[in-house]
Amino acid sequence: MTDSAARTVTGASIRLDGVVKHYRGQDKPAVKKLDLDITAGDIVAFVGPSGCGKTTTLKMINRLIEPTEGRILIGERDVTGENPDTLRQSVGYVIQSGGLFPHWSVARNVGAIPRVLGWDTKRIAERTDYLLDLVGLDPAVFRDRLPKDMSGGQQQRVGVARALAADPPVLLMDEPFGAVDPITRLRLQDELIAIQHELGKTIVIVTHDFEEATKLGDKVLVLSEGGHVEQYATPAEILADPATPFVSEFVGSGATLAHLTLSRVKDVEHDAVVIARVGDSSDEVIGRAMAAGATWVVVVDDDGRGLSWPSLDEVATKPRVSDYVDARLPTVAPSSTLNDALDTMLAASQGGVLVTDGRGAVTGALTIATVMAVIRDQLSDARADGSTYVAHAAGEQA
Ligand SMILES: Nc1ncnc2c1ncn2[C@@H]1O[C@H](COP(=O)(O)OP(=O)(O)OP(=O)(O)O)[C@@H](O)[C@H]1O
Ligand SMILES: [Mg+2]
Repeated sequence: MTDSAARTVTGASIRLDGVVKHYRGQDKPAVKKLDLDITAGDIVAFVGPSGCGKTTTLKMINRLIEPTEGRILIGERDVTGENPDTLRQSVGYVIQSGGLFPHWSVARNVGAIPRVLGWDTKRIAERTDYLLDLVGLDPAVFRDRLPKDMSGGQQQRVGVARALAADPPVLLMDEPFGAVDPITRLRLQDELIAIQHELGKTIVIVTHDFEEATKLGDKVLVLSEGGHVEQYATPAEILADPATPFVSEFVGSGATLAHLTLSRVKDVEHDAVVIARVGDSSDEVIGRAMAAGATWVVVVDDDGRGLSWPSLDEVATKPRVSDYVDARLPTVAPSSTLNDALDTMLAASQGGVLVTDGRGAVTGALTIATVMAVIRDQLSDARADGSTYVAHAAGEQA
């Protein structure tokens, strides 16, 4: 979910009009008859049990799978009659493991569609560097790398950059973060929200994970077998008012602390942090920290990005602030959910996390006490509402 206020929309609307998919040799259709309107510039998350038709529906949008019946419109274009190859150049597609060509460099992978479109070399190179930067990879470091020499999360970022290469109005993603570790997954989700905010594409994302759906989706489409629409609404509406028993059960079993995914880091108050720079006088830094009642400081680089968070005792061991880099410094973005913040703390075995802005600069901190206080409030509110699905929540998170 993104703020609706200052949003650029470059995406196109998508409309499914009586779409049916009957695979040859199957007695029942995989998608019975689906009508769906997706607003330009929204992120819509498809969720539902295995085999309910999520992938089939997604792939009909770019005609990797041909619908048996019905029409699909992207913007004003009826794409059911369009040349599938041309269509796929205007619809970005990201699959689970990134789907990169292993023997091609990152740049060659990202430039694949622009090359087909006949862009000149300079324009492709500029676009590649812009996109690598956008997805958080330093072009100078990664441009010439092979995918096999990168982590799963980095490959996934390249997959997103490649899908955006020809600036398509629509981005389709099929469980794109399924194969990465939970903390990288949180990062990638936050990056996707930031990218969406910056570019305003229409994004359709398939996920098994209801919590991921509520975090990312402006709207969530809950499907049951045969591509049957159980509910299509905002995450808050689905949580507050599940349309059918199927939705209640799906929400209940999947997302124990789903309510917490509605609370973002940006919605709660942060603790102020005392900032120091490499080479600052330790006495001066300790003096400032003590005046602010802090027992530790954050050392940042020239861009304000966190390098380490030493205690005052550690600072006092040297005359000047050291350039030590703590590779495991836990950080969250404003769009991260409180659940993400907790997970990040647990993964780093820390009682707090640093909060960073869109460019990665440290703006404050969030402690476990703050997060737990919000969780307690939410749980007691939910109990007062008589909600059934939070009773077993607290235990499962740890
Ligand atoms: N190529 C195919 N030929 C025949 N049947 C298929 C084919 N692809 C999918 N199906 C069937 O269509 C139904 C929907 O499959 P689909 O892959 O869309 O489900 P899904 O919701 O993406 O599931 P999952 O969460 O497991 O990825 C399933 O019953 C599946 O077995
Ligand atoms: Mg699938």
